[in-house]
Amino acid sequence: MIRSIVRVAPNLTGREEVVIVPIFQDDKGLTGPARKLDILCRSALAKALKSGRFAAKRGQTLLLATTTPRAPEFVLLLGLGMREELNAERAANAGGQASTALKSLNFKSANLLLPEVVAQSPDALHGLLKGFLLAQYGYSLKREGSNESPLRRLAVMTAETRVSRVLRRTKLLVEHVVGVRDWVNAPANLLTPTDLANKARNLSEAYGIKCRVLGRKELERMGMGAVLAVARGSTQEPRFIVMHYNQGGGRPRVCLVGKAVTFDSGGISIKPWQDMHEMKGDMAGGAVVIQTIAAAARMRLPIEAVALVPCVENMPDGGALRPGDVITTRDGRTVEILSTDAEGRLILADALSYAQEFRPELIVDFATLTGAVIIALGKRVAAVIGNDDSMIERLIQAGKRSAELVWSLPLDDVFEEAIKGDISDFKNYGGRDGSSITAAALLKQFVGRTPWLHVDIAGTFWSDSGKIPYHSKGATGYGVDLTLSFLESLLGG
Ligand code: BES
Ligand code: ZN
Ligand code: ZN
Repeated sequence: MIRSIVRVAPNLTGREEVVIVPIFQDDKGLTGPARKLDILCRSALAKALKSGRFAAKRGQTLLLATTTPRAPEFVLLLGLGMREELNAERAANAGGQASTALKSLNFKSANLLLPEVVAQSPDALHGLLKGFLLAQYGYSLKREGSNESPLRRLAVMTAETRVSRVLRRTKLLVEHVVGVRDWVNAPANLLTPTDLANKARNLSEAYGIKCRVLGRKELERMGMGAVLAVARGSTQEPRFIVMHYNQGGGRPRVCLVGKAVTFDSGGISIKPWQDMHEMKGDMAGGAVVIQTIAAAARMRLPIEAVALVPCVENMPDGGALRPGDVITTRDGRTVEILSTDAEGRLILADALSYAQEFRPELIVDFATLTGAVIIALGKRVAAVIGNDDSMIERLIQAGKRSAELVWSLPLDDVFEEAIKGDISDFKNYGGRDGSSITAAALLKQFVGRTPWLHVDIAGTFWSDSGKIPYHSKGATGYGVDLTLSFLESLLGG
């Protein structure tokens, strides 16, 4: 991974290992520092452009070895597509392509010759850098270690001194996206509820966040009946993480709630085996809120934020919750279990009613909640469902800036019928129709009148193919960038 990322003036020394030159498709020839570089390289760049071999199409790369003295060893041309069409997502893809092109070439440092428009657009710059940094990520538990690239340093060449803020923010943020990826990729035998709680405690200590971890006794005392019910079939002890960061003098105060099922076998309503291993990542929502609050603390955002993360393992055994069982949630209402695989909404029900006690202005929950959200929106867009239209819109905008897209699903009263119980207040499954929404309709019962957003990340938390340039197979780390951008937008007024 890249450890250091610095701004330097756009002056070439000739000692650079590789200089990345982003070019727009509609650029009229090379200008500024790129032109100077071309002169040093005896017009190698101009030739590549003129010959049509390199058209600067979005994500296109061409590596040129130079032979002239005072020129860098290599130049990597990087296509950005049309100038007007550049956005955070496209910039992130381009950054990822450049990074991938360099990956196996054993460079120790790279220089990035920043076009002026990118230097002046914080979202595009952030996307480009984020894509570049994240494309270097890999997860490996092989004995011989990983085949990690030795690339350690990125020098961003621009005269624009204001980019330094973006550089610092992106680097910090990427560390926490990587944190989420590592936890989601970690197998469930190496990341139990207890392990996750310990990691949250360590992070909190490192960044001056107050942290309390509730164990079984406290959960019993607090009446967290739903959390305890889901944990029943596992030998792993449940945990409930509470992190409290306060730099805002109480305003704005936001509760971030995250589902953390360290392994979701489905319980007695057991899942088919084919994709079951992915359910080691069913704690992605919890990972996102823990890492986001850590990032917010490091950035000293002037807010008050509380992270609430119920952690359990969902397993079948002789003590496990059964279909037909009726459980009592923290607020005293009863839920009949139709499927033990609809466990996320149960642990969230307790966490959401607990969240209300902090009297937040807003609750946002993140959860790998329903497979149906993949059918509705695919694997690149998360669903937001909530009771506050202006906050929903704000989240959608944050999604555009962070290249972590979100789209809203409706939550009208008509969906509430589906989850009304026959012998209990509610049931935990409302049928196949609109099942991402009926799951949210159950959550809504536990937030009272507090403004609330639910983000279903079951589609976005995992990449099957790793084909997106800045993804690798497995965890994506989706959610940290989105949430941080969203929290920052609350400060903007
Ligand atoms: N953790 C799963 C949802 C999920 C599915 C996440 C695929 C990521 C990828 C959740 O607990 C679950 O099992 N949901 C069921 C609900 C159903 C039984 C009502 C589902 O979506 O199938
Ligand atoms: Zn489940
Ligand atoms: Zn689950």
